[in-house]
Amino acid sequence: MSESNDRDPYALFQDWMAEATRSEINDPNAMALATADAQGAPSVRMVLLKGVDPRGFVFYTNTESRKGEQLLANANAALCFHWKTLKRQVRVEGAVEQVSDAEADAYFESRPRESRIGAWASQQSRPLEGRFELEKRVAQFAAKFGLGAVPRPPHWTGFRILPRRIEFWQDRPFRLHERTLYLREGDPAAQEPARWTTERLFP
Ligand SMILES: Cc1cc2nc3c(=O)[nH]c(=O)nc-3n(C[C@H](O)[C@H](O)[C@H](O)COP(=O)(O)O)c2cc1C
Repeated sequence: MSESNDRDPYALFQDWMAEATRSEINDPNAMALATADAQGAPSVRMVLLKGVDPRGFVFYTNTESRKGEQLLANANAALCFHWKTLKRQVRVEGAVEQVSDAEADAYFESRPRESRIGAWASQQSRPLEGRFELEKRVAQFAAKFGLGAVPRPPHWTGFRILPRRIEFWQDRPFRLHERTLYLREGDPAAQEPARWTTERLFP
């Protein structure tokens, strides 16, 4: 780990993501997202990181999906990136907030038209009779919007994880791995520049 990255986990994350983008065969931005329901029962699935800046880590989804309902009931989440080619892992934990409508609109607008129609057609995480039911809904929404604009569905938006802790893990020989934990001081939702403390952890 270079000294210049000390105490700025986002700079280090961007360096590792850039390396992963060069070395991974696909989806370097794929991350496991863990959520829990109101009783604390966890579930985990992969999503794609679509934005990262000093405010936090953003992904997009359907708010009526299982994960969406869990996040509305319990606004905390954890992320885990694993880059096999680099033998690295990054873990992020924190509170979750929805992105602004303007931010979600801008990202939705950047997606292919077929994906935008798919966001209307998919009742994500609810029972589906068969592939035909999905294709029928895609055709219905394609006909509804015709050649016009496809607006962002009200049930589709982004969530931002506001990290309280970020841990970087690097494989080293004989399982003597290197772990560096960044802990955010103060309120993770506060606007002022974040202050981080770092510590090393036993592997
Ligand atoms: C590599 C990968 C990336 C994915 N990215 C997303 C994503 O960005 N957003 C999303 O809603 N689902 C994504 N999925 C699908 C989710 O893993 C999951 O099946 C879906 O969101 C429903 O999860 P839920 O029932 O827990 O809400 C992705 C799956 C994989 C394998």
